[in-house]
Amino acid sequence: MGKIKIGLMGFGTVGSGVWKIIQENRDKIIENCGYEIEVSKILVQDLAKKRDDAIAKEMFTDNPTDILEDENIEIIIEVMGGIEPAKEYILEAIKRRKHVVTANKALLASHGGVLMKAAKEANVKLLYEASVAGGIPIIHAIKESLSANRINRIMGILNGTTNYILTKMTSEKMEFETVLKEAQGKGYAEADPTSDVGGYDAAYKLTILARLAFGIDVKIEDVYREGITNITPIDIEYATELGYVIKLLAIAKEVNGEIELKVHPTFIPKEHPLAAVGDAFNAVYVKGNAVGELMFYGKGAGDLPTGSAVVGDIISIIREGKHQNKRVSEKNEKNQNRIKDMGSNQGEYYVRLLIKDYPGVLGKIASLFGKYNVSLSSVIQKGKEEPAVSLVFITHDTVELNVQYALTDIAKLPEVIRIANLIRVENV
Ligand SMILES: NC(=O)c1ccc[n+]([C@@H]2O[C@H](COP(=O)([O-])OP(=O)(O)OC[C@H]3O[C@@H](n4cnc5c(N)ncnc54)[C@H](OP(=O)(O)O)[C@@H]3O)[C@@H](O)[C@H]2O)c1
Repeated sequence: MGKIKIGLMGFGTVGSGVWKIIQENRDKIIENCGYEIEVSKILVQDLAKKRDDAIAKEMFTDNPTDILEDENIEIIIEVMGGIEPAKEYILEAIKRRKHVVTANKALLASHGGVLMKAAKEANVKLLYEASVAGGIPIIHAIKESLSANRINRIMGILNGTTNYILTKMTSEKMEFETVLKEAQGKGYAEADPTSDVGGYDAAYKLTILARLAFGIDVKIEDVYREGITNITPIDIEYATELGYVIKLLAIAKEVNGEIELKVHPTFIPKEHPLAAVGDAFNAVYVKGNAVGELMFYGKGAGDLPTGSAVVGDIISIIREGKHQNKRVSEKNEKNQNRIKDMGSNQGEYYVRLLIKDYPGVLGKIASLFGKYNVSLSSVIQKGKEEPAVSLVFITHDTVELNVQYALTDIAKLPEVIRIANLIRVENV
């Protein structure tokens, strides 16, 4: 029985998960691909760091050339994270005709086109299942199993931290800041939570999915992005009352030949399968023109779920040999102008205003919505929380720019204290 030698670049959460799976599932892996996977070297930053005693010290190196220049290593696994030096190492590995598996969403979102082109030219594989939704095999599904479909829509809960925070805010009526602190204390959220709560992490992943599903060379700047920091328990209460749940959704959908790409908090009907995805779980809802609606659900992070996706990619490479996957790069860079401008998007909107409750104010606000052709499907005004009250509207289907124009005028009314929130509604 043959051995395939791999070089592991990074031995943190994901790298150690990959190691564990390769050791513990050795027999299953051999059964599935006919080879034993042997880790030849592990690249780390700090050689002095305490590691698993069961792993020989000589296995670790802080010199990337020990992996890149070793001709016996056929596949490198990049699980270090960050843009550089990860990009440089991957390009060097490709140049040396090594296959690459990476979990690095930030790198793929910003330089995926260049890396995929290099891999295609060198006739090596570059696989990245773990970069989106950890253990959920969504990349493979879009690339292979759904390749007979025209994909119309992808809506994902792609960030576990924000889903955990929103779930807690909903079930325990807690403020965002309080839940965030608690999540940081438990290690569910990073000390610097910006990438998660600001929606950047989800936007990276959406970039990768949209590139695959729609064959466009999406850049991270093409994705409209809003995080969850403005969501309050009051908005959640109104959402519940109106029959919705608030989720941070990453959405890519084709509308009349153009693609909407956006990450933002979203009202979704409480009956929608994504509404039931709680805690730190991830889910991806896909609609294809042949298959109809599908939903993938599972753990989007962690050593073993993410390691499972990485080792799955290694096995695919071994099984398929050098068979080149053409789907991804061939369609790139043709359709850049298809990405839709956010203002021209059409949908329904939740608007919460903080107003002084004087007679006639509702009429004034409604007529300003009317001026911009924004019609309203629900209006809720609650209690007398002097000196200000919340006034909540759900619009009918309308163009986003019209809502923005109406709100600019509404904000100037003397009775309006502020526009407290604007949240998009997906009634699918
Ligand atoms: N964590 C997850 O659940 C998850 C899920 C999906 C995708 N990902 C992605 O997987 C990648 C790795 O994430 P992680 O959570 O495993 O990271 P991590 O725990 O911070 O581990 C990073 C590893 O890379 C090594 N490293 C970092 N910079 C290096 C450099 N310049 N040279 C050599 N070694 C370097 C570190 O060495 P030391 O050990 O010496 O510090 C460490 O072993 C990221 O791209 C991340 O976005 C992670």
